[in-house]
Amino acid sequence: MIRAEHLTMIYGKDFKAVEDLSFSIGKGEIVGFAGPNGAGKTTVIKMLTGILRPAEGRALINGFDIQKEPLKAKASFAYVADNPDVLLQLKGVEYINFIADIYKVPDEERKARVPELAERFGILDALDTPMREYSHGMRQKLMVIAALTHNPPAWILDEPMTGLDPSAAYELKQMMREHAAKGNCVLFSTHVLEVAEKLCDHILIMNHGHSLYQGTVDELSAAHPGKDLEEIFLSMIDHRSTQEEEK
Ligand SMILES: Nc1ncnc2c1ncn2[C@@H]1O[C@H](COP(=O)(O)OP(=O)(O)O)[C@@H](O)[C@H]1O
Ligand SMILES: [Mg+2]
Repeated sequence: MIRAEHLTMIYGKDFKAVEDLSFSIGKGEIVGFAGPNGAGKTTVIKMLTGILRPAEGRALINGFDIQKEPLKAKASFAYVADNPDVLLQLKGVEYINFIADIYKVPDEERKARVPELAERFGILDALDTPMREYSHGMRQKLMVIAALTHNPPAWILDEPMTGLDPSAAYELKQMMREHAAKGNCVLFSTHVLEVAEKLCDHILIMNHGHSLYQGTVDELSAAHPGKDLEEIFLSMIDHRSTQEEEK
């Protein structure tokens, strides 16, 4: 449902932020996309979602090439960007309706889904307030609600937990589980491996634009006996940085 094939991104003249990255996420899967700040996670997500055109490779969402069939591809996924500070002059409900209009969500579906989602995130009372008066966490919640209103098969979420309070983070994790359990797929990035560890079967760890690990959490733990996941993660990243410095 989400496929990255040999994705490469070059910023400026020759800075390879992502190099030859491939992975595949199938039905019913939640994949945690982990890596430290600057690893290239957002760049990959922007290539998957058609915001950036890859220098090489291609991205397929639900079978649609994001560059060749952008509208079909885009109608089939929800995207939450890493920065929720958009259109702050709008009230929450206006932003949700704006996004729902783009995705042609019927009125009945909005009426059914929006209050439910807003209730789960505890911001039902704030929907009539302009977003400039929202805290970072409230803006983040609103972005998630707007993205999920059209309920597409694939979810692509860039650092969705950042700024969420524990109960909203819990709700979002529950929603991801429910969505995947219905045969859909979820990709979310995080710089905190613990989140991925608890939520996903599969993780993808990247650093310096390269994939360091793709597979299950259990296999990774089994390959490094006696270490917890955070220690394994840090040792992988350290190892890689040392290699880079030696070059
Ligand atoms: N628009 C840009 N122009 C130049 N360099 C960029 C740009 N966006 C990101 N980068 C660089 O690309 C690398 C990967 O960034 P990013 O994809 O945002 O990583 P992550 O999301 O994992 O923190 C970093 O070194 C970052 O500084
Ligand atoms: Mg990022």
